[in-house]
Amino acid sequence: MRKPIIAGNWKMFKTRDEALNFMYQVNEKMPSNKLVDSVVCAQFTVLRDLVKRQGDELKIGAQNMHFADEGAYTGEVSGLMIKSIGVAYVIIGHSERRAMFNETDSDINKKLHKAFEVELNPILCVGESLEERENNLTEKKIKDQLVADLANLTKDQVRDLVIAYEPIWAIGTGKTATSQIADETCGFIRKTIEELYDKETSEAIRIQYGGSVKTSNIDELMSMPNIDGALIGGASLKADDFITLVNAAIK
Ligand code: PGA
Repeated sequence: MRKPIIAGNWKMFKTRDEALNFMYQVNEKMPSNKLVDSVVCAQFTVLRDLVKRQGDELKIGAQNMHFADEGAYTGEVSGLMIKSIGVAYVIIGHSERRAMFNETDSDINKKLHKAFEVELNPILCVGESLEERENNLTEKKIKDQLVADLANLTKDQVRDLVIAYEPIWAIGTGKTATSQIADETCGFIRKTIEELYDKETSEAIRIQYGGSVKTSNIDELMSMPNIDGALIGGASLKADDFITLVNAAIK
């Protein structure tokens, strides 16, 4: 049995006061981490404040990291630095970073290797554009991303990886993939992991769906066999909704 994992992706939202206010509202209401992993991925400026105030059942994640430990990379933050302030997770290869900040599969591969080296838990994002889906290129796109992003990772590492399937056309658009489409593509990711590694690894790896997940569709998505959780943008910003989303994962 794979433990569900619900992660909020706050993107570039929330001032320090807003972030702390959220924390005070959710802390007492998070279910046991024996039943579900609950994660909030916040922007760099509030990470330390959140780590200091996180309750026992909630973990904090970053939304990006650099693959070098340190160096002349103005404006960047390293995985080692994130780890040193007590952050547990890091999102890698979100489609917004791939599209707007020119992140390549080769960068993403280096970031994944570094995340494992410094003992951060990576959440790798993959997914197709609307054009790719309409041209039947979804499986090709996702397989190409997985092959390149996971290059030279060991099966022990991949077993601990979380993959978020996020169709680009469903992110922030209010257009959720149907639970069938989401499950089918998460199943394809699992099959690809089996081909690249083995059955045991593919059965252990946790695969989230992301893209306009909200309180009204989480139950159906979580009932699908290949979906082990969700990566949630907009709906994770409200404390009440986040509490509902996390609890939906253990029903
Ligand atoms: P959304 O974002 O839930 O607002 O669609 C998901 C994501 O980008 O991770």
